[in-house]
Amino acid sequence: MSTHNVWTHKGTFLLAAVGSAVGLGNLWRFPYLTGENGGGAFILVYALTIFAVGIPILIAETMLGRASRRSPIMGMRHLTRTHQASRAWESIGWLGASSAFLILSFYSVIAGWAIHYTWQMLTGSLTGADAETIGAGFDALLASPGLLTLYHTLFIIASGLIVGMGIHRGIESSLRIMMPSLFVILLVVLAYGIANGDIGAAASFLFTFNLADLSLEGWLQAMGQSFFTLSLGMGAIMAYGAYMSSEASLTRTAIAIAVVDTAVAMVAGLAIFSLVFGAGLGPGQGPGLMFVTLPLAFAEMPFGALIGGVFFILVLGAAISSSISLIEPVAAFLVERFDLTRPQAVTLMVVASWALGLLTVTSFNVWAEGTLFHALFGRSAFDLIELLTNIFMPLGGLLIALFAGWALTHSEVMKEMRTSEAWFIVWRFLVRFVAPAAVAFVFLRSIPQVEG
Ligand code: PFF
Ligand code: NA
Repeated sequence: MSTHNVWTHKGTFLLAAVGSAVGLGNLWRFPYLTGENGGGAFILVYALTIFAVGIPILIAETMLGRASRRSPIMGMRHLTRTHQASRAWESIGWLGASSAFLILSFYSVIAGWAIHYTWQMLTGSLTGADAETIGAGFDALLASPGLLTLYHTLFIIASGLIVGMGIHRGIESSLRIMMPSLFVILLVVLAYGIANGDIGAAASFLFTFNLADLSLEGWLQAMGQSFFTLSLGMGAIMAYGAYMSSEASLTRTAIAIAVVDTAVAMVAGLAIFSLVFGAGLGPGQGPGLMFVTLPLAFAEMPFGALIGGVFFILVLGAAISSSISLIEPVAAFLVERFDLTRPQAVTLMVVASWALGLLTVTSFNVWAEGTLFHALFGRSAFDLIELLTNIFMPLGGLLIALFAGWALTHSEVMKEMRTSEAWFIVWRFLVRFVAPAAVAFVFLRSIPQVEG
């Protein structure tokens, strides 16, 4: 495997990893979780986890990818062989690939909603609409398996096409156009939020905290969100890391990814809550925050249809740049292991994930609460898949931290990290002890949910 693929530029890994990190997690999940959990205290726990646990694992996961120069499954096999480590560590690759497959299946369905809202905004169908109309519109969308399937299909095909064109012509070139545009749009939306909303209320909601306000459940959600938002434990970062230039700095790159991802979440939160508070609406809407509360705010504001449309295009772009990173680890594995062509491998992954996504589609309508599916499994298929990923993700992160912290030797790590001895000691302490303890805490707490 001496002819491995490498990104075109030293900085491309950063671009690709930021593309993976910045997504629905920042624009949709972060704001609604913050809104549901009362604001500042949630953000404090989230930020602490990102810096104390997220960054060390991000470094570890990138390191495993770059050291192996293979897809996560084959890469972990290679690393365990060369270290004469237990084959159990290979589960890191398999866990990652399965999580990527599971996440893509529902990520694509939710991203599909943004197609619907882009269309609704730009055609002006929501302009001047009241809360009842907009709420009913969202309910009607969820009640329609046909529409949800249509959008899910469109979104996943677009993602598959990009990955199918290869890491250079597909992934790199699309990110090089998409990512800068996304940042510009985000700033436009922020400026609009400042001009038309209540930025003071948004800032005080996000940045004043009282830790006592945060429930244990809130702590767990904050930590879980910090893994999801950095794309950790799913093989995405490892797969991209396999193509990373040997010259790029692991530490600096990981810090940059975390800082950009956190900044995007904060700016999105400020913009969204400014508009929501400005329109006199509440923050605690849950998943409907982006699809009901926000459209309502846009419906009442000048040029709301236009800026709202642009905002949902931002959501779509951010979602696509993340979904392609979920396809890559599995597609690269199929190419390496079974000698498939890249288009064949991508098609296989996308079709399978698409089919699983149909279960998520039914969770909002034909198999929603009160149906046989619910009676059998105690929850919707969507909740079931999300629960599985909430277990796989931290488990993958935990194993990555342990493998990098305990199985890799000092000289190997130094060869990849090329950092001072002091930083090495800090990093190793974090991946050996702090990250595993934090992840184990989140992980063990998610077990009782399996029964309840
Ligand atoms: N980090 C992405 C987000 O915040 O939306 C979601 C994600 C993408 C998670 C890729 C995992 C992954 F492998
Ligand atoms: Na993110």
